[in-house]
Amino acid sequence: MSADLRAAVPGQAGALLAELGDKAVLHDLYDEAGASVYHAIAGSSPLEVRELVGALRSTVGPILELAAGSGRLTMPLLTLGRELAALELAPGMIRILEERLQTVPVARRSRCTVVPGDMSAFDLGREFGAIVLGATSVSLLDATGRAGLYRCVRRHLAPGGKFLLTAVDVQDFGSSTTEQVMDVDGADGTRFRMYEHWTEGADVRTVTVFPHPLETAEPPITVCTTRIGVFPVAQLEAELAQAGLVLTDCQPLPPTGSHHHDVLLVAEVAA
Ligand SMILES: C[S@@+](CC[C@H](N)C(=O)[O-])C[C@H]1O[C@@H](n2cnc3c(N)ncnc32)[C@H](O)[C@@H]1O
Repeated sequence: MSADLRAAVPGQAGALLAELGDKAVLHDLYDEAGASVYHAIAGSSPLEVRELVGALRSTVGPILELAAGSGRLTMPLLTLGRELAALELAPGMIRILEERLQTVPVARRSRCTVVPGDMSAFDLGREFGAIVLGATSVSLLDATGRAGLYRCVRRHLAPGGKFLLTAVDVQDFGSSTTEQVMDVDGADGTRFRMYEHWTEGADVRTVTVFPHPLETAEPPITVCTTRIGVFPVAQLEAELAQAGLVLTDCQPLPPTGSHHHDVLLVAEVAA
């Protein structure tokens, strides 16, 4: 367990972690242990799926999905009947995605190629009619990472291709320090309590997940955390423009139950 990672957990979640001491083991939400927790919480969530699948219908050709995770979007994207490359960095996530793919008919899974890789630095040597980055995952990258992402996206878009991404509408975050606490039922019957902490003006928020109820959890208790960037959509638009991509659409997504709202953005290579 990294002491730095522990020290970076703020608010009630940080206090709880300190109280648990050696009984808790802190993981990154996307490492080997974290991947199972992420998948239990979000791996089958329908959030933004309908909207992304709908938007993809106006595109043609092979699809590249970035930060595919454990396949929450990959599975429904495959129903479009198009060739799909699913790129993901974390080995734990890739393992779950590959297990999931084994459960679908061969005709469907044979259209999917899983690509281990970094969305801010990849070269697949081919072009795609659509590139998708869901789950507001653009916020996982810092400014340098995002610049790399846009460069790679531009290079991999076929003529007329579209980059579809979801992002947080930061204007809805509220003011001062907020820590939202949410209880979440995992798909496998496990329960979790999630703390989302943000201080007004800060460029990151921290999400930390504990098993719930904590009193009945047996040590070592797996606690997972991740830090997510916070920046306005206007900044994203400016960054895309700098990379030669123009925002052609921005639609609000249905509420997620969290205190912020998400949007679906569409960008194309500038004329
Ligand atoms: C919020 S999850 C989204 C997963 C999936 N798309 C979904 O909708 O459930 C973010 C994913 O991004 C992956 N990730 C983080 N940084 C990455 C990078 N630089 N390149 C590729 N994947 C990355 C994480 O491992 C994780 O699987």
